[in-house]
Amino acid sequence: CGGKKEEEKTVIHIGTNAEFPPFEYLEDGKITGFDMDLIKEIAKESQLEIKIEDMSFDGLLPALQSKKVDVVIAGMTANEERKKAVNFTSPYYTASQVIVVKEGDSSINSFDDLKGKKVGVMLGFTGDLVVSEIEGVNIERYNAAYAGIMSLQSGKVDAVVLDSEPAKNYVEKNEGLAIAKADAAEEEYAIAVRKEDKELLLKLENGLKTVKDNGTYEELLKKYF
Ligand code: ARG
Repeated sequence: CGGKKEEEKTVIHIGTNAEFPPFEYLEDGKITGFDMDLIKEIAKESQLEIKIEDMSFDGLLPALQSKKVDVVIAGMTANEERKKAVNFTSPYYTASQVIVVKEGDSSINSFDDLKGKKVGVMLGFTGDLVVSEIEGVNIERYNAAYAGIMSLQSGKVDAVVLDSEPAKNYVEKNEGLAIAKADAAEEEYAIAVRKEDKELLLKLENGLKTVKDNGTYEELLKKYF
């Protein structure tokens, strides 16, 4: 009686930018985080073997287009501009842009209050787009969220606009910072693939659904948030 041959797994390359805790970050030199666990679980469901590649955030979509990676999961907001270039799965997390300020700074209570201020954003992040739309802001662009946060701590900028969860993470771990009570712009994170990779998109979509339905997603939320 012939046992079934173990199904060969397709290897797919996953691009991320591991400077965005708790979604992806380095711990003892290893890439970890909510997104990393999520994609591992999805891959398991879909019989895919994954290899993770860490790169700069603004290099992720170009790497996807040029086939250096097949999938991008990086707390990436599925916005209209990006949807023109790539396909996204259903959203897996709803986030918002928030303003990180120095503790005790009561001068910033809305995004409009950023007018006339020096504001740090990260190159290519949606926070950059949000702040760029406000007139009269003096924008400083950084390559990674941590660099922006350090700059705020040392008083080089008055505020940093960043996604809510990483912002909370940095405020908890660095002294003298707070999140301003301002109405934040909402956005949704999703996993990106090349437009032509319809089959892969479907696999990821089904995997995501299974992981949500079987409680794994809920466990990951508890683990990281
Ligand atoms: N959500 C924001 C965006 O899509 C920031 C994502 C940054 N992610 C990262 N892994 N560095 O632009």
